[in-house]
Amino acid sequence: MQRTTERLILRTPTVDDLGSLFAIYSDPATNQFNPSGPLTRIEQAQSVLKGWLAHWQSTGYGQWAIATRERPDQVIGFGGIDARRYGDVLRLNLGYRFGVQAWGQGYATELSRAALDFAFVELQVAEVFAVVRPQHHASIRVLEKSGMQRIDTLSDVPGQAPSLVFRSRPDEVTQKVT
Ligand SMILES: CC(C)(COP(=O)(O)OP(=O)(O)OC[C@H]1O[C@@H](n2cnc3c(N)ncnc32)[C@H](O)[C@@H]1OP(=O)(O)O)[C@@H](O)C(=O)NCCC(=O)NCCS
Repeated sequence: MQRTTERLILRTPTVDDLGSLFAIYSDPATNQFNPSGPLTRIEQAQSVLKGWLAHWQSTGYGQWAIATRERPDQVIGFGGIDARRYGDVLRLNLGYRFGVQAWGQGYATELSRAALDFAFVELQVAEVFAVVRPQHHASIRVLEKSGMQRIDTLSDVPGQAPSLVFRSRPDEVTQKVT
């Protein structure tokens, strides 16, 4: 299954995306703010991909493999909406991870807006959440530009400052910051 935005193709991942997933998820630069750090073994990427495919199987949506319309064969990142545990609560979460070459072109914001539209219009969910480390200013900016509101904190990294929790609701999506 595939959908498009102005510049991006968002499609269901397949087992053939393992190499792209490992390349992007094993890069220290794309994990600078990830407390777990980069993946180091291909088996870890296999496990991540297996989880994504299971989520797609059980819900019909999940993390997309992302390419540009110009280069549909080249995966530049992964992102979308799926279930994530926030402490004891399971929430619908917006997440994304792009390869370094794709940064700084507004792609994460374009993906995030498309993902929120998908969640509210097609899934008709009441709210979507995102969690971000407090020093990750680029990602915070992406969430703000996507119209998400900072509502809470989450102590999800032992011994470190809490992460910031953002939320979006359908009636707030029109308030995107440009
Ligand atoms: C964070 C990430 C998703 C941003 O993707 P991107 O496509 O470059 O984001 P966009 O271009 O849509 O927007 C980035 C915004 O942050 C701003 N920004 C970038 N670096 C910044 C910094 N160090 N401090 C403040 N703002 C910054 C940009 O200027 C831009 O805002 P603007 O449009 O107002 O100028 C990308 O760097 C990435 O995939 N990183 C690795 C994975 C990751 O950290 N995922 C998020 C986990 S919460």
